[in-house]
Amino acid sequence: MSYLETFDSLTYEKEVYKPSKETVKNSYVDNYDRLYEYSIKENEKFWDEIAKQLNWFRHYDKVLDASDPPFYKWFTGGKTNIVYNALDRHVTTFRKNKLALIWEGEDGCERVYTYFSLYKEVNKFANVLKSFGVKKGDTVTIYLPNIPEIAISMLACAKIGAIHSVVYAGFSAFALRDRISDAQSKLLITADGAYRGGKVIELKKIADEALTKTPVVQTVIVVRRTGKEVAIDTSRDFYYDELMKLPIANTYLKTEEMDSEDPLFILYTSGTTGKPKGILHVHGGYSVGTYITSKYVFNINDNDTYWCAADPGWITGHSYIIYGPLINGATTVMVEGSPYYPYPDRWWKIVEKHGVNIFYTSPTAIRGIMRFGENWPNRHNLSSLKILGSVGEPINPEVWRWYHKHIGKERCPIMDTWWQTESGMFLITPVPSLPLKPGSCGKPFFGIDADIFDESGKSVEAGKGGYLVIKKPWPAMMRTIYKDEDRYKKTYFSKFNDVYLAGDAAKRDKDGYFYVMGRIDDVIKVSGYRLGTAEIESAIITHEAVAESAVIGKPHDIKGNSIKAFVVLKPNIEKSDTLMDDIRSNVGKTLGPIAKPDEIEFVDSLPKTRSGKIMRRVLKARDIGIDEGDISTIEED
Ligand code: WTA
Repeated sequence: MSYLETFDSLTYEKEVYKPSKETVKNSYVDNYDRLYEYSIKENEKFWDEIAKQLNWFRHYDKVLDASDPPFYKWFTGGKTNIVYNALDRHVTTFRKNKLALIWEGEDGCERVYTYFSLYKEVNKFANVLKSFGVKKGDTVTIYLPNIPEIAISMLACAKIGAIHSVVYAGFSAFALRDRISDAQSKLLITADGAYRGGKVIELKKIADEALTKTPVVQTVIVVRRTGKEVAIDTSRDFYYDELMKLPIANTYLKTEEMDSEDPLFILYTSGTTGKPKGILHVHGGYSVGTYITSKYVFNINDNDTYWCAADPGWITGHSYIIYGPLINGATTVMVEGSPYYPYPDRWWKIVEKHGVNIFYTSPTAIRGIMRFGENWPNRHNLSSLKILGSVGEPINPEVWRWYHKHIGKERCPIMDTWWQTESGMFLITPVPSLPLKPGSCGKPFFGIDADIFDESGKSVEAGKGGYLVIKKPWPAMMRTIYKDEDRYKKTYFSKFNDVYLAGDAAKRDKDGYFYVMGRIDDVIKVSGYRLGTAEIESAIITHEAVAESAVIGKPHDIKGNSIKAFVVLKPNIEKSDTLMDDIRSNVGKTLGPIAKPDEIEFVDSLPKTRSGKIMRRVLKARDIGIDEGDISTIEED
């Protein structure tokens, strides 16, 4: 049975894992129901109490300004900076010499930063950025692998009020170019290369290719990671390490006082159209949301070592490798490279080496690791682990059980956190003291008013599927799509007037546990990565032999979904396996290796509506052999 089918029946909803007395005793939240009820009834008061736990240059006047929905504002009148809470406030306490960041490279090298040393590196690099003329409100694009300089760059931008736009280092030159152009960044931070699975990815070369078509970039800062020779344009490119040695790279800089609603970052994510959406987050609300979710869900204590095995290039890395843990004063672990290289026990070796207490990853990674059997984790002492986490896609119950048994040794609760780039923070998730059900992401986080609607906007009864929606705003929600307020309104708030539409289908059981079943729009989660069918189709048709294409996601046992492309060739083009391979590698070059179709089928035509819209759902239904349904109602023009 493929993993999506396991969601068809909720027979496993009766399987409940109760937390141990010790877990409940040691939890920040020992009674979910009581706090949840309060957080909804007294919503603003709840958020006010949380926000007061952070430092503000100037205290806010108002918790929520809902005068112009869906453009909500939080903590208005307040002055803060996420760096003020993530670094500055710690260096005057006992945390000054505590480890902030432990980094492991794929080649075995290790670097550690205390709060004070990270603070100084950030100050130095912020001074460097300023010396290049980067000011408050400017955008900076960051195209870096999973190395400490990505955290330093993001924090340095935030410190001076610049808006960072991180582009995942697995994206191609074209994807990078589009994101630079949309953000209009004058400065790009990249590296000579990155290590992944024993191979070197030549990031600088990809960046150079992107820059041939983006004249807006005036300065490129290059971090030396692999040490391999790269082309340097002396009028534009500077080495990071050389800049950091200059007198200008002073170890002190005052943190810019930002309005709560000032932008912190843009992160591009896939949607229904080919153009990625620049999701915009702000300093105030995002700080509050990532702080409290990290604290309550992972129960981070001062003596904990916390590891989120995501890439900083995606929202999980932004919120839960960097900002959330640092605001909590935690020790956060960052690991470069593949979980299987050189051997499939790499991660467990790292858990043992650093005594990791909290470990957070994706179902795809667990499924990938499961393939190699439990002997690999069993070779290591995993007794430091207390809490596990999962994110990015639904975790099928059998994978949940394996993770619970072989990694958590039936001791560690699994926090299956449901959220999105747009939400900035967890929205539906257990807390450690909540009984767990495998395959369920638990219940809404405090202050989050989640529901499941039918087509007409009515709440559905337990056991019925529907649209997952959020009925109240929350502090860390995106503020808009960069330079596209209409798209923001239309995509998220138009189907059900002023209610946030997440784009996922979900069910709830009679105990109020949520089960997210997957996307209902044209987004596919492949190995937890978010891709748009339209983006992949655009990449396919850049191939000269292709006339048209349609892409669907197919259930896949390891990746969650695989990509299948239906391709119509131009007249008189011969179908062949070589052409297929060529189309695949062209997608790799155009969008990035993660977007390469697993399967290509040449077809003579594509099913379309009368107005010419491709009916992907019909293709999908035919492909996996299910009823095509009432096409006229599903595919409206
Ligand atoms: C999916 C990733 C089921 C979902 C943080 C959502 C999940 C999309 C879960 C957002 C989960 C994320 N269970 N599905 N625990 N977490 N998703 O923006 O479809 O990359 O809408 O953010 O991932 O993907 P994004």
